[in-house]
Formats: sequence, structure tokens, C-alpha cells
Amino acid sequence: MQRVAAILFVGDIVASAGRRALRELLPGLREEHALDFVVVNGENASGGIGITPKHADELFAAGVDVITLGNHTYRHREVWPYLDEQRFIVRPANFLPSQPGRGTCVFEREDGATLGVVNLSGNLFMQAASPAFTTVETALQEVAGADHVLVDMHAEATSEKVAMGWFLDGRVTAVVGTHTHVPTADARVLPGGTAYVSDVGMTGARGGVIGVKREQSIAVFRSHMPMRYDASDEDPWLMAVLIRTADGSRPSRAASIETILLPANSATNASGRNQTR
Ligand SMILES: [Fe+2]
Ligand SMILES: [Fe+2]
Repeated sequence: MQRVAAILFVGDIVASAGRRALRELLPGLREEHALDFVVVNGENASGGIGITPKHADELFAAGVDVITLGNHTYRHREVWPYLDEQRFIVRPANFLPSQPGRGTCVFEREDGATLGVVNLSGNLFMQAASPAFTTVETALQEVAGADHVLVDMHAEATSEKVAMGWFLDGRVTAVVGTHTHVPTADARVLPGGTAYVSDVGMTGARGGVIGVKREQSIAVFRSHMPMRYDASDEDPWLMAVLIRTADGSRPSRAASIETILLPANSATNASGRNQTR
């Protein structure tokens, strides 16, 4: 039976700082907003690039229902078989069929409410086997019948993400953009009832450069020489969107989408200013 739901989607979780921020802040968010579903992008969860089975399990234990991924999916070899075994971690549907994992899943709550999740990769400046705009049709068939459907469009170019939002408007509950790690200010419900945001941002150290220690990133930009990148720990924030659904259609339409940008209260948080909700 379909019912109104609150869906939290958390932007790319980056390294230990991001995992800590999620563990710290998710229980409060769950209580405050009576969350029904929690989906996170986990493609940077382990050391800033990729995800290991251990850290995926850690996210699930923290209360995550579904993990989406992106271009860093296969960085850790030990996750390859895990992607085939664990139903609720998905990689872009438009990767090659021969690549491990699957691109969609349907998560069912104990009360029977269901959320279909589709992960897509952009094709501009990204490596994906097939066009997101055609593969999404097959992917949506795989989650047909779910009460709510959320699409994570993991892409570099805002144009491609905006186009996907319009393309799916009225057909899914939400289209959320990930990958750039910088939140955009364009969250809204499109006229057909699909919640949309070009990029949710990241859950990780805001004191770095999209998650990397800023001294290292600046040094690479200044020197044009390769250098080791380490994940930053400084000033961790959680960045997410909260989607509330409207009753009446399947998959549901969105009633609202709200951006949530929250500093974690850890000791490493040096500059928790500019809090916005
Ligand atoms: Fe990415
Ligand atoms: Fe990312």
C-alpha cells in the first residue's frame, strides 16, 4: 500500500570524516523528520575513493537502506563480488552488463512500503558504456511497481543532470545529482511532480578540496605535477536532500524537496559557520 514517505538522500560520503558525520547526524535526522527511507551515495566512502565491503556494511549498520555509487565503483577489488551478492548497493545501470553489480534495486520496508532506486552515470566527461537517456528506460522497468522511485544521476555536467530531471519529470519521485561534491542551490519540485537537484553535495570534510587535503590539491594545481592525495578531516559536514512524497500516484510524486547542510559536531570541526537548512 502506498503512503506518504520521507526520503533522505545523502550526497557522496567521503572517507572516515564523512562516515563519522553520517553516524553522528543520521539518528537525529531520522527522529526529526520521521524518515522512511535513507539512501546515500557511497562511491568515496573508503579513503576518499571507492568503497570496501567493510565500509558498506558500516553504512548499512548506521541505518542506510540503499547505497548508490558512481565512477569510483570498482576502485577496491574486494567489493566486486560484494556488488553481486548485496542487493541494496547499486552501481550505474549504464555500465557494461559484464561489470560486477546491478544498476537498480527495490527496497521494501517492514510495513511493505517500497522504494525503487536507479543509479545512472552521465556520459559527458565520464566513462559509461551506454547512454544514460536510453538505459534509464530499461532501468525504470526494473523498478516498476515500487511506491516511490529515486534516480541518482551521477554526472559531471549540470546540463546533463538538468536534462535528465526534465526527461523524467512526472515519471519518478526524485532525480538527484551527485559526483561534483558541491551542493547546488536549485532544489525544487518540477511541474510534473518530480523532485530535482543538480548536485546534493558531499558528506565529508568541507575544509578540503572536494574531500582532499587542500594543501595537496593546491600544490597540484600550482605545480602541474602529480602528488599523493589524502582525505581531509577538517570541518566535516553532512549534505543531503529531504524529499517528502505526495499521495495519489505510483510511483509517487514529490510534495517537497529541502536541502540539508549540517556541520558535524566533532572536535575536528574548526569552522562550523554558515549553517543553512
Ligand atoms: Fe564520482
Ligand atoms: Fe564522489
